Amino acid sequence: MLSSESIYSDFLKSAQETVQQDLLTALAQFQFSEPLQSAVHHAVMLGGKRVRPALCYAVNALHGHILHPAVRRAAVAVELIHCYSLVHDDLPCMDNDSLRRGQPTCHVAFGEHNALLAGDVLQSMAYEVLTSSLFEQDEVQHQTHPRIVLQQVKTLASASSKMVQGQVLDLQSEGIRIDQQALEAIHHNKTGALISAAILMSAQTMFEPADQAMQKLEQFGQHIGLAFQVQDDILDITSNTNVLGKTAGKDLDVEKSTYPALMGLIPAQNYLAELHAQALAALSYFEEDAQALHEMTQFLLLRKS
Ligand code: IPE
Ligand code: IPE
Ligand code: MG
Ligand code: MG
Ligand code: MG
Repeated sequence: MLSSESIYSDFLKSAQETVQQDLLTALAQFQFSEPLQSAVHHAVMLGGKRVRPALCYAVNALHGHILHPAVRRAAVAVELIHCYSLVHDDLPCMDNDSLRRGQPTCHVAFGEHNALLAGDVLQSMAYEVLTSSLFEQDEVQHQTHPRIVLQQVKTLASASSKMVQGQVLDLQSEGIRIDQQALEAIHHNKTGALISAAILMSAQTMFEPADQAMQKLEQFGQHIGLAFQVQDDILDITSNTNVLGKTAGKDLDVEKSTYPALMGLIPAQNYLAELHAQALAALSYFEEDAQALHEMTQFLLLRKS
């Protein structure tokens, strides 16, 4: 049995360091008054696995190890949207959680109105970063073609809308029994879309929309994105609050519609393995170039938090 530490590959550790630095650089561009500045810092900088940025970098690694500036911006932007989604997800009017990433949730630390507004501003910050020249080392040689930036903006905005739609359906489905198709739609929207967006925004810097590589990455994103929420639902039951950094057993308490609740724990675990196999099948197209994406897939399957 692997310990939870050893599943963090060198690739993921280095991705976490890179995005931590880039997030700090990005946040330094914004000078808000208190308490907004601290609420944003709290929401973004204190913990988090940084899976979505790492997926951006893993796609970039299909073509070598120099990070494209537009991939670095996409990694920061998608993490900012993700952090906003968590701050709002935890609000009393939504999942009403008091612990996130091992810290008091944003509304517990800063009050509900400041958490709401920190979430709002994180969303606009994401697009400001995505459309800036932050990380453009050499404006002349590296300037990203506006067509790519437009594709990235559209991809992130569309995924972000889907996340909101998924959250509405998630809350509507508390305490009632829905079928697997409806649950799958919720998961694809609330979680899968943003994970797919991380992959696609990075892919857009190197592939044309009609490339087969793009279709393979789209399939990979769909499977791994759905698997991510299935795993989140499983961990809510099988893990504990200390390891998770968020309150375990919360889904059962409020009768959330989840895979383990719908089909039972073991079938949900089998379904997770099936989704991972499908994700790996999509990656086989890239052969050994997809090493980093393989490592990320392995991490996502084995993660304990
Ligand atoms: C948690 O996401 C919320 C879901 C979409 C399931 P993560 O598990 O990526 O949370 P952090 O960023 O590591 O805290
Ligand atoms: C969150 O799903 C999906 C988001 C869009 C944030 P959950 O409500 O299951 O996420 P956790 O378990 O609180 O992290
Ligand atoms: Mg929720
Ligand atoms: Mg929640
Ligand atoms: Mg959850």
